[in-house]
Amino acid sequence: MINESEAISSPLLSVLQDLHQKYQHLQEGELADYIPELAKVNPDLFSICVMTTDGQIFAVGDYQHLFTIQSISKVFVYGMALEEHGRDYVLTKVGVEPTGEAFNSIVLDEMSKRPYNPMVNAGAIATTSLIKGSGPTERLNRMLDMFRRYIGHDIFIDISVFMSERTTGHRNRAIAHLMLNFGMIDRNIEEVLDLYFQQCALMVNCQDLAVMAATLANNGVNPLTGEQAIKRDYVRDILSVMYTCGMYNFTGEWVYNVGLPAKSGVSGGIMVVVPNKLGIAVFSPLLDERGNSVRGVKICEELSQKYGLHIF
Ligand code: DON
Repeated sequence: MINESEAISSPLLSVLQDLHQKYQHLQEGELADYIPELAKVNPDLFSICVMTTDGQIFAVGDYQHLFTIQSISKVFVYGMALEEHGRDYVLTKVGVEPTGEAFNSIVLDEMSKRPYNPMVNAGAIATTSLIKGSGPTERLNRMLDMFRRYIGHDIFIDISVFMSERTTGHRNRAIAHLMLNFGMIDRNIEEVLDLYFQQCALMVNCQDLAVMAATLANNGVNPLTGEQAIKRDYVRDILSVMYTCGMYNFTGEWVYNVGLPAKSGVSGGIMVVVPNKLGIAVFSPLLDERGNSVRGVKICEELSQKYGLHIF
């Protein structure tokens, strides 16, 4: 937990407080509304949290407010697929090329028929279909346990958001059928989609996201619990794909300006990894036209510049 006295005296905390103050009145962007439940969120919510790989946490704003993880889940499920099947097999089902297209584009690689990468919806649905288990409940429980290792406590699903997306997610359904047609998925489509919608509806707060990012920064070891959330070998694969594909069709500009592996979600979270140093998380639900949090992008640009975090 946050050590308030240590945190308050920290220059990093005052930098975060200043940034929060600077951007809290910025009203640019729109709430995601293609998942009806997400359109009900308070647009003013705003939090920033940084965790060091030695376990110190610095947090400002609504950092305990729960929101659904959405696309940020794709990173961790990809890691689970790698651990369960190995790189070579996973590469036969999902590639590692950026698309330059929207996160929900209905497109597969013309030659291989694979989805381009595990960060867009097509690739993430294919990745979810790789989770092992004897049935839907076991697969869900194994997935929840994987997330628990990264966060350090149990994690639950927002049933309203799950149902909302399950009822309206016809585009994802179309993508899944296309992949079924090309043999990229060989499971019951509705079960795979349920698990995918469940993973997107997992509830986290900004502090949880920072712990998850710090776990990746710390070679897969959760800095709070000391638990190995994922084998060190696969952290490199995850961070590479986050770096090239994590911010969708904004990734080029992001990498140019911020220069760090990251992943965003349509509920307004952005998770950033500074290898061997920090996990950074921002939550603010107003999104730009590509589906990235407007305040989140600005905060990460400022932090990267101020602390020279760009990896080049
Ligand atoms: O599948 C979807 O469309 C959502 N559950 C997740 C999309 C998402 O978060 C993309 N992020 N920017």
